[in-house]
Amino acid sequence: MKRLGVNIDHVATLRNARGESHPDPTNAAKIVKKFGADSITIHLREDRRHINDLDAKKICSIKGLLVNLEISTNDEIVKKALKIKPNYVCIVPENRKEITTEGGLDLIKNKKKIENIILRFKKKRIRTSLFINPSKKDIVYAKKLNADCIEIHTGKFSNLIKSKKNYLNEFSKIRKSVKLADKLGIEVHAGHGLDYKSTKLLSKISEIQEFNIGHFLIGESVIYGIKKVIMNFKKIIK
Ligand code: PXP
Repeated sequence: MKRLGVNIDHVATLRNARGESHPDPTNAAKIVKKFGADSITIHLREDRRHINDLDAKKICSIKGLLVNLEISTNDEIVKKALKIKPNYVCIVPENRKEITTEGGLDLIKNKKKIENIILRFKKKRIRTSLFINPSKKDIVYAKKLNADCIEIHTGKFSNLIKSKKNYLNEFSKIRKSVKLADKLGIEVHAGHGLDYKSTKLLSKISEIQEFNIGHFLIGESVIYGIKKVIMNFKKIIK
């Protein structure tokens, strides 16, 4: 059974736009779990543009909730994550100027750092994942670095679909990468930019065990969840 991880960073983005406390990401994490998500993902960014330290701490202490914490290789963030103790970590590249995570990790350039981070989390029995592009070279490297899982960056594939361009080449690249990782004994996840169509297509690759989805899922929830909130207000003002 494939698992769905829900990224709730965007709830914090909405809260931060007002600089107040609503909507509360901790509450969102509880509700997301209640309605069937297998795990939640949060990204403690170096610039804290959405989830902050207190959110991460509170969310990681919710009983029975599996939390996947995305972190960069920044030492301060790594130390925080080791202290907060999420169930899982996913190491991602981070660039202050980007709107969202733009590509996979450069495993060769950051080999020593990543190897060391994986070791530190493994000592605490925290599952480690590497966010990488669908490339055979990176998968072989992820195995060398002893990662438990990889998450394939699906941004390029998702964008080709959204712009109605030919995606078959990128799909084939993802499929081959997934098969290789599975053969090497690495658990495979996928995420970034996914909507209904891209997720449906990728679901055909049986070895992908987990999808991590944020922006589209939260966007759809804002639109389709609005009915209930309007009804609540209508009742209040009647
Ligand atoms: N997986 C990883 C590793 C990510 O960095 C992100 C974006 O924060 C996602 C999944 C979710 O991407 P999106 O919000 O585009 O669905």
